[in-house]
Amino acid sequence: ALVYPIVVAVDGPAGSGKSSVSKAVARELGYGFLDTGAAYRALAWHAEASGVDTDDAASVIGCLESFDYRIGTDPAGYGVHVGDTDVTSAIREPHISGIVSRVARVPEVRTHLIELFRAIMAAEPRPGIVVEGRDITTVVAPDAPVRVLLTASEEVRMARRAAELADVPAEATAEQLRARDRADSKVVDFMTAAEGVVTVDSTELDFDETVAAVIAVIRGSQPVT
Ligand code: DC
Repeated sequence: ALVYPIVVAVDGPAGSGKSSVSKAVARELGYGFLDTGAAYRALAWHAEASGVDTDDAASVIGCLESFDYRIGTDPAGYGVHVGDTDVTSAIREPHISGIVSRVARVPEVRTHLIELFRAIMAAEPRPGIVVEGRDITTVVAPDAPVRVLLTASEEVRMARRAAELADVPAEATAEQLRARDRADSKVVDFMTAAEGVVTVDSTELDFDETVAAVIAVIRGSQPVT
């Protein structure tokens, strides 16, 4: 019989810690991990590498055809590749963060990537997969047995992101984060929990407590783990 992996859907704003928390949850449970934001970032990288004007939606759509995207789901180390190029660190550059919303707002891009995500989820060999992004609980996997919205106050999110990017002035980081959330939330609402989605507010929690809170939600949503 076909056994589908249990999908744990996690959404949240930039700097909520959803990536590192989701990864830690996956490791702890022996699940796979999918960072969907990495795909939008890789596409932004690919568009630029192809000499495409990322402000022009038609050109961005045009480069979907040559977008040869590969990502692993091992939470212990997943590399992101576009063709033969390892873009794992390049897609984290502030420059990519600054332009990624332009590709993510194109509906054809979203449709294309959502299909890709569903294929990756269905092929997951581990018993479950933690999928993290902005529209996972609502669009990509609305039927997932576990759906979590990970939030934190804006102040705490800014502080955490500034600590991650220690070499960049905190105010510049904060402004970029705010601008990105503003742009992204015009496309999908990831600030309010949809019906049936459990909110985990990490404002007052440290990293390990946040991981434990998400695992508690997972255990509470399933008869067996
Ligand atoms: O999570 P992140 O910062 O790596 O995401 C990068 C960008 O991709 C973010 O600005 C919004 C977009 N994104 C999206 O629109 N939908 C998702 N499911 C994940 C990310």
